[in-house]
Amino acid sequence: MPWILKPTDKLNLYLKPEMNKPVRYLFILILTVLGVSRLSAQNNLITNVQSRKALSLNGTWQYIVDPYETGFYDYRFKELKEDNPDAYWNTDIPKNKSEKKEHGYADKYSITVPGDWNHQKPEFLFYEGTIWYKRSFDYQKPTDGSKFYLWFGAVNYRADVYLNGKKLGMHKGGFTPFNFEVPAALLKEKGNFLVVKVDNKRYADEVPTLNTDWWNYGGITRDVKLLELPATFIQDFVVQLKKPLPGQAPAKTPEVDGWVKLNQAPAAGEVVNVEIPQLGIKKQFAATGQLVPINFTLPKVQLWSPGNPVLYKVIVSTKTDRSEDKIGFRTIEAYGKQVLLNGKPIFMRGICIHGENPKEVRRAYTRADAEYLLGKAKELNCNMVRLAHYPHDETMTRLADSLGILVWSEIPVYWTIQFTSNEVLDKAKAQLEEMITRDHNRASIIIWSVGNETPVSPARTDFMHSLITRAKQLDGTRMVSAALEVSNGGLNNLNVVDDPLGEFVDLVAFNEYLGWYGGMPDKCRTTNWSTPYNKPLFISETGAEGKSGFHADSLTRFDEEFQEWYFKEQTAMLKRMPDNFVGITPWVLNDFKSPKRNNPYYQEGWNRKGLFDDKGNKKKAFYVMKAYYDEMEKTKQ
Ligand code: GCU
Repeated sequence: MPWILKPTDKLNLYLKPEMNKPVRYLFILILTVLGVSRLSAQNNLITNVQSRKALSLNGTWQYIVDPYETGFYDYRFKELKEDNPDAYWNTDIPKNKSEKKEHGYADKYSITVPGDWNHQKPEFLFYEGTIWYKRSFDYQKPTDGSKFYLWFGAVNYRADVYLNGKKLGMHKGGFTPFNFEVPAALLKEKGNFLVVKVDNKRYADEVPTLNTDWWNYGGITRDVKLLELPATFIQDFVVQLKKPLPGQAPAKTPEVDGWVKLNQAPAAGEVVNVEIPQLGIKKQFAATGQLVPINFTLPKVQLWSPGNPVLYKVIVSTKTDRSEDKIGFRTIEAYGKQVLLNGKPIFMRGICIHGENPKEVRRAYTRADAEYLLGKAKELNCNMVRLAHYPHDETMTRLADSLGILVWSEIPVYWTIQFTSNEVLDKAKAQLEEMITRDHNRASIIIWSVGNETPVSPARTDFMHSLITRAKQLDGTRMVSAALEVSNGGLNNLNVVDDPLGEFVDLVAFNEYLGWYGGMPDKCRTTNWSTPYNKPLFISETGAEGKSGFHADSLTRFDEEFQEWYFKEQTAMLKRMPDNFVGITPWVLNDFKSPKRNNPYYQEGWNRKGLFDDKGNKKKAFYVMKAYYDEMEKTKQ
């Protein structure tokens, strides 16, 4: 499936009308055949929206719960026509008293946006299905040719978006942003009727698929905005340090290599300005097309690192538009058996985190949620986090930038995805593209992960290889990885990370639960690890359940003493890892909700592998891991 594209072709991928004809027709033909044209609509994703002119549509919305999708299909289960008055995207005000209206939005059925529905109403805790969201708003519409976009931070899982009875588009994927253009003529001064059909039902041919070890929180889980932008606007840009030669540190005056993408071909004579006031940088580039390559040298700059998370304000502007961001400059690469940050080897003291506020049992999305979660990671003396198993809210990656925490960001290609399906591959690619497009200026993000614990097969390896190729096409400045499979129990208890996908990743990462899902923790004493790949080795998960406050002896599973013993054996084993061992992210920062964990005494719908419990209390195992990290901080700098 993956195409080997020449660099110039790679640039063309971003261009619309000017894309060289033969490639463009072949591209459209394949897209149409694969029926993913709507899915790839998203590479018109508008980024950096926090610095754009926008009306926030967060707040109280009205809703209709619709498990039978009565508002979408007729009684023959045929999709309702756009102008059908029974459709729930059409106004609920009856034309006249005798008109039969069997749907309506009322304040008594209100819900908060952003926010999953599961924590907002007890009856929604387990709900998987359709809920219609409706929000009315007025808008002072300028008549200067501005463009308008409805932008969503994330909606889990499928969102059908309607405004004033017109369908704007459909998006799938619960953890990445998307936007739809609002034709100016459709936008009214008064009483705009915005409806979003949200459906979080799980299907085998989606991403993730039917089975996950996390709660399937549904709803409009992140911010909603109406963006007002000039006719030609800055859609996206990348301002990152050019990758130095392998193994090299960035030059004292490093080179910036990036681009600015406009929403359409610019008028003749248009220019793009890039300014970095703190560095006295003011550069101008002729905009000869929709995509404007930028390249310049920085004066002496403070490189971003966990110990020195310096961010610079970067302003990108044209005659009519301006977009600004805070960016840290650093280089990262896998070089031989090491990971080099700014040319120096690093050891990653990490932790896995779910995008959940455990105290309020809901999807995390606020700045305070990010401060809570990353604050806990700092308490553990982490310099890195694995945001599992899906892109977390942008507040998280932006806070990691300012706190100096390295980030592993991942798409939910998790367990048994349908690897033989091209449609499923395109769904995964769409999420990959959205994840990378949203965060490609985040200094904290050093690893794009294309998946977790996917069972080895030729179809799976092709599928995952195609994602890795796509990730590298989209961003050649970061490492690409995935949680790989291990062949266990070789000679002398030698476990070998020989997953065929290891050939294509930069970082060979694997999950191991030695002593929890296999044997007892002391198995670590006789176990060794290796990989045939001359690459850095990383443990992306290890952990054991421990119910906070349950104390017995270390042989009793689910008590704190067993979990503590588990980590004592693990950390001792880690000191015997091969010399390409560069870090670890234990599973998991805190207990989290999971429908798969139903031990009535110790779990009750919670995965209890947290080093913190769901109330924020440290478990005994926390101190074992902290001690190991304090030691590593001293020895492996
Ligand atoms: C798996 C998986 C996690 C899961 C964990 C566990 O490896 O990647 O999502 O929660 O193990 O079993 O607790």
